Amino acid sequence: RPRVLSGIQPTADSFHFGNYLGALRQWVDLQADHEPFFFIADLHAITVEQEPKRLRERTLRAAAQLIAMGIDPARSSVFVQSHVPAHAQLQWVLAGLTGFGEASRMTQFKDKSAKGGTERATVGLFTYPVLQAADILLYRPHHVPVGEDQRQHLELTRDLAQRFNHRYKKTFRLPEPYILKATAKITDLQDPTAKMSKSASSPAGIVEMLDDPKVSAKKIRSAVTDSGTEVRFDPEEKPGVSNLLTIYSALSGRSVEALEKEYDGRGYGDLKKDLADVVVEFVTPFRDRTLELLEDRSELDAVLRAGAERANEVAERTLADVYDRIGFVPAG
Ligand code: TYM
Repeated sequence: RPRVLSGIQPTADSFHFGNYLGALRQWVDLQADHEPFFFIADLHAITVEQEPKRLRERTLRAAAQLIAMGIDPARSSVFVQSHVPAHAQLQWVLAGLTGFGEASRMTQFKDKSAKGGTERATVGLFTYPVLQAADILLYRPHHVPVGEDQRQHLELTRDLAQRFNHRYKKTFRLPEPYILKATAKITDLQDPTAKMSKSASSPAGIVEMLDDPKVSAKKIRSAVTDSGTEVRFDPEEKPGVSNLLTIYSALSGRSVEALEKEYDGRGYGDLKKDLADVVVEFVTPFRDRTLELLEDRSELDAVLRAGAERANEVAERTLADVYDRIGFVPAG
């Protein structure tokens, strides 16, 4: 079975709809015919300041959410990045193959350091994509399901893999990004040309999976739409309505065309009201299941322990190959 790998940062109390529709849903689906490795990227999280108690809590909440949304620990290795030391070790090797200019061109670094300027950004934030490349290459995956914002990091990953393979010996598989066009970029409800993101300027723009469903319904009903009344999918002219149609279609399994027809002549109010109901129906059981899982930490611990064990087996084997090929003397 082909292998699939992906990760998510534990930097918020809840995943949001961008995470879920852009990436996590695909994680769940790909489990069926892949050998899956999914992890919580706590090493990546500390490239910006984190409060220790919160980071710990959010890591466990992330694990609970993954299981609640359908990641099956019997099928998938679910683990915490810091439990697998090879990630940080391979990162260092790849850092020696990454050009300074090449890393400087990563748009996510440019965006994230834009506020305080590069002078105030951490070195960790700068080398973030190199760690991400290590995360991926260790598992030699065929597919990496992510949202559009990760595409450039995956290109760097492929470049580094190729460079290593060429310089030494074929060691890494070139991973394919798995990005579903329809949901690759879910946008902010209040600013529908920007991506939905935990660093958004207003919480009203993000639908959080663990929020009180009533709050989420309200956010949908107050989403910014466009002037005009026609419910039509047109991301250029009608980014707000198009985003709602994308979310609606993804959650209901109905095509955007079918939804356009259904709301023809009915206006935005009806669309938002119905979508709010769909969202409530979707998040309510998810939230209940997550909170239930969080009550018994021992079950989560067991899942993460088993996941780390399998991940370490694979990752250590790859790292040993890498160390051998670059000429490190074995520890004896
Ligand atoms: P993170 O934690 O920011 O987000 C997790 C996943 O959610 C996707 N995503 C979105 N997709 C569509 N629309 C949106 N508005 C939206 N917002 C977020 C992201 O693309 C991502 O797939 N660097 C990664 C974590 C990571 C990783 C890896 C991923 C670390 N190592 C190795 C894959 C492979 C990140 O920050 O994702």
